[in-house]
Amino acid sequence: MFLFVVTCVALFCFSTAGQEEADADSWYVAAVYEHRVILNPEPRVPLSRTAALQHMQTNLDVYEEQAAQAAQQGAQILVFPEDGLQGINFSRSSISGYLETIPDPQQESWNPCTEPEKYNNTEVLQRLSCAARRNNLYLVANVADLQPCTRKTDHVSCPSDGHWQFNTNVVFSSDGELVARYHKQNPYFEDAFDTPPQPEIIIFDTPFAGRFGLIICFDILFHMPTISLVEKGVRQLIFPTAWYPNQLPLLDAIQFQWAFSLGANVTLLAANIRNDQLITTGSGIYTPFSATYHHAMKGDPEEGKLLVARVPVLRQGQSVTTEEGEVTSESKLSVAADSGYCHQESSCAPIASAVSPSSTTFISTMMYDPFTFVLLNDNNGDLNACNGTFCCHLQYRRISQGNSKELYALGVFAGTHIKNGRYALQVCALVRCAGSDISSCGQEVEEAETKMDFLLEAKFGTRYVYPSVLASHLVLEKPERLEKTADGRVTIKHSNMTAGLVTACLYGRMYHLDKN
Ligand SMILES: *[C@@H]1O[C@H](CO)[C@@H](O)[C@H](O)[C@H]1NC(C)=O
Ligand SMILES: *[C@@H]1O[C@H](CO)[C@@H](O)[C@H](O)[C@H]1NC(C)=O
Ligand SMILES: *[C@@H]1O[C@H](CO)[C@@H](O)[C@H](O)[C@H]1NC(C)=O
Ligand SMILES: *[C@@H]1O[C@H](CO)[C@@H](O)[C@H](O)[C@H]1NC(C)=O
Ligand SMILES: *[C@@H]1O[C@H](CO)[C@@H](O)[C@H](O)[C@H]1NC(C)=O
Repeated sequence: MFLFVVTCVALFCFSTAGQEEADADSWYVAAVYEHRVILNPEPRVPLSRTAALQHMQTNLDVYEEQAAQAAQQGAQILVFPEDGLQGINFSRSSISGYLETIPDPQQESWNPCTEPEKYNNTEVLQRLSCAARRNNLYLVANVADLQPCTRKTDHVSCPSDGHWQFNTNVVFSSDGELVARYHKQNPYFEDAFDTPPQPEIIIFDTPFAGRFGLIICFDILFHMPTISLVEKGVRQLIFPTAWYPNQLPLLDAIQFQWAFSLGANVTLLAANIRNDQLITTGSGIYTPFSATYHHAMKGDPEEGKLLVARVPVLRQGQSVTTEEGEVTSESKLSVAADSGYCHQESSCAPIASAVSPSSTTFISTMMYDPFTFVLLNDNNGDLNACNGTFCCHLQYRRISQGNSKELYALGVFAGTHIKNGRYALQVCALVRCAGSDISSCGQEVEEAETKMDFLLEAKFGTRYVYPSVLASHLVLEKPERLEKTADGRVTIKHSNMTAGLVTACLYGRMYHLDKN
């Protein structure tokens, strides 16, 4: 619940969100492990099963140590990253030695640790199961699954070599039983893996925290299965990922992880791999209330990182059965329009105020999309930037910080992102430009000195809007105020930054406009 103290100062109306408490009646301890995956240096060269196992055992050795560490710190569930055992860049045939056939836990119960003889060729599942059992915790890992199929009896999509290969999450309960299996729905340029013939919505139950849903990496950007899980009322998602390369200014791993948690009002247990060559790091335990995260910086030793946090149980929400992505008056998902700020109307401009006549717009590419930008020319001001009828509104005040001449711009994009995946967006982003020229606006930068108080808002055509405030050196800040109204307007308001502002973003996903 939110508690607001309102005082209007000059341009801004500051509202202090009293540190809201989770309305949870119970808590649990979650852990995620960012793993510096030991890679196969030649992933395109097929290995024997023995050699592939030998390779995976080196990663499993680390998993076992970390499971013991996590248990020592009281963890009840531990999540390992995507591709953390075999690595990346395999072809469909070169990964064959790494594959195990994972039985469907919805069809049969199996404890690989106590019944190893039930299936051959399941050494990896056995070690994972025993690690869960030995440490008395739920364990989630990502593995490569082989499922035999025939075109006649199974599905027309059965590959000509007679089996599917899936990028797969497996979950073991604290006694080692295999309790869930999820096949990734949205592979990201993964030659080794197939898309499952039917999308899978996989949920498992735990005695300490109720239900969790399973997703993998790129899935987080799509309706199926991620938003389907959320719309079924699942409030806790498990997210093994291999998020490379990290992409500022809008989609750095930790930035989007917490943005998703805040925007969807869910807990996200995110475990990423660590690899400096692939430019990937960034894992965390996120709730709508707080974040415990890790993001390695340049020059840090390349190593793994275990995160453990006590988090509130988020009970199942009401199932939302409205048409996907559309704004509805579903009161559960919205906060009252007038809940405490802008009482003093004269000092807070309405959203539809005209574009300041002095502001000229320019187009610059950000995240491969043509954003329309407006520069922040003054120490404070009020700006609009529009792409068609979609407009972003910004009120800002720079907090003077030395002689910093850092350039900032407000960017807007409404359209379909088409590079490395297609997805429809409405985005508002206040960014620090990487250099002193406007053409640098939208390029990657991770440091900033300029602190800013601001209000950023827009009226979106979706209720799935993911907010982020990213400060210098990959520090996440929680928007002091996040507000959504039933008609789609989303506002973030922020002040008292602890470090310079790199990005403030409202990332709206227009799932209903995605074409399949
Ligand atoms: C910001 O900092 C000032 C000065 O420390 C303090 O008075 C104010 O309450 C803070 N505002 C918020 C929203 O935290
Ligand atoms: C993976 O493949 C890409 C493209 O073939 C290559 O650029 C990259 O270096 C490879 N990475 C690893 C870790 O094998
Ligand atoms: C496992 O492999 C052995 C040796 O090839 C074979 O005898 C046994 O029947 C297999 N067990 C199962 C469950 O397939
Ligand atoms: C988020 O979920 C909590 C319950 O856990 C609920 O009280 C709150 O209203 C929700 N917030 C939004 C914006 O839906
Ligand atoms: C958004 O901006 C892009 C780039 O200028 C432009 O091509 C596109 O037509 C604009 N969209 C709308 C709806 O005006």
